[in-house]
Amino acid sequence: MGARTRADEHDVDLAGLEFWARPAEERLAAFARLRSRDRPVFFKERRVPFVRDGRGFYALVRHADVVHAGRNAKVFSSEPAATSPEPPPWIVLLFGRPMVNMDDPRHARLRRIVSRAFTPRRLARIDEHITATARTIVDDLLERRSGDFVADVAARLPIAVICAMMGIPERDHAKVAACVDAMTEYSGVRGDVVRLRALRLLVGNLRAIVVLHRLVARLGRERRRRPADDLVSALVNADIDGERLSVRELGAFFDLLLVAGNETTRNALAHGLRLFTDHPDQRALLLADFDGRIGGAVEEIVRYSSPIMQFRRTLTCDYELNGQSFRKGDKVVLFYGSANRDETVFADPDVFDITRSPNPHVGFGGPGPHLCLGANLARRELAAMYRELFTRAPGIRATGAPELLLSGFDNGIKRLPYEI
Ligand code: HEM
Repeated sequence: MGARTRADEHDVDLAGLEFWARPAEERLAAFARLRSRDRPVFFKERRVPFVRDGRGFYALVRHADVVHAGRNAKVFSSEPAATSPEPPPWIVLLFGRPMVNMDDPRHARLRRIVSRAFTPRRLARIDEHITATARTIVDDLLERRSGDFVADVAARLPIAVICAMMGIPERDHAKVAACVDAMTEYSGVRGDVVRLRALRLLVGNLRAIVVLHRLVARLGRERRRRPADDLVSALVNADIDGERLSVRELGAFFDLLLVAGNETTRNALAHGLRLFTDHPDQRALLLADFDGRIGGAVEEIVRYSSPIMQFRRTLTCDYELNGQSFRKGDKVVLFYGSANRDETVFADPDVFDITRSPNPHVGFGGPGPHLCLGANLARRELAAMYRELFTRAPGIRATGAPELLLSGFDNGIKRLPYEI
């Protein structure tokens, strides 16, 4: 094992939930100190109940290191999992492995099949649905005039879009939303959580996976028998080099879409309202030229808020990076939120500036095989929602501090009061 630099005992512990409960300014200052160290720092993980022991990880906090690891997927592997702690092997056996936790060539094969969901043609088709859903959400908001922005706006759009893409009937949307909540709560479990609570969340998570898999398996079987012009038909009938997506793989893909595409977009939407409330100059800039500015605004919201703060990789061989000798099997965590504030890449990184150009943020992941598959869909959703909001309720603003999710993974907003 290469020599390890440990974080000062009383300084920061990126592996503990206490760190993620600290105010954002303190966390950002801690990451700035870590970026200035001469090499990546090692953090020991606590044991998570019912999950195999995580020994600890090196934190990659600089933009250059995060990009390097993302690009060099042969060395920085996404197997056995791109999250830490990893799911127990029996979950993988029962429910399949999502492609975010796979390396090429298996990953590339699946990605080729499911990319059919995200072709420009399919996205253009889903655009109409996005706009119509955003319009309905704003119709409701104009009647309500105040409330919780997350429940009234941000949580509604992404789930409706993913369900529409998959062809999930409207009557099942509420069931799907409840399952996603259960899965998200479980993904926040860390070593700090007591066994009983961890068990309750694990059971909730398993139940949610079973319900979702049943739902999509039923649909998959129907579409295999009678193909329609929808995504599930395209996925279950796709024939790539003689291979087809199994019903279990379809279930794992649906889980991934829901987990990867729901919370992320919902949190980005809520962060956006908070940012445009705190920065009226940026709101004025956007409103003065919405079409010209919205693209840059969306990129800056994703950079500044980094809805996904980290993903993990595992070393496949001994390797040297930024002064650290890694050994095969070592874990590294790519801190996207820290890379997005790297002062060597972004001028005034703590300033929210929708005119920032270039903006090479890694909010959708680093360049490489796992770059977010839904990035263009998320961009369309954010642009459509803000267009409806800022044209029909231009005075909308957050009226209090956001209630934040306690998590080192999702930069989540649970509630955000607003009025128009
Ligand atoms: C603002 C919104 C979003 C953010 C910030 C985000 C962020 C990310 C990040 C950081 C990754 C990289 C994973 C890694 O490093 O291993 C990723 C992957 C992925 N995202 Fe997104 N995402 C967003 C929206 C979406 C949406 C809307 C969908 C689909 C409905 C989606 C589907 C996926 C999938 C399938 C992957 C896995 C790609 C692979 O492993 O090849 N994401 N996302």
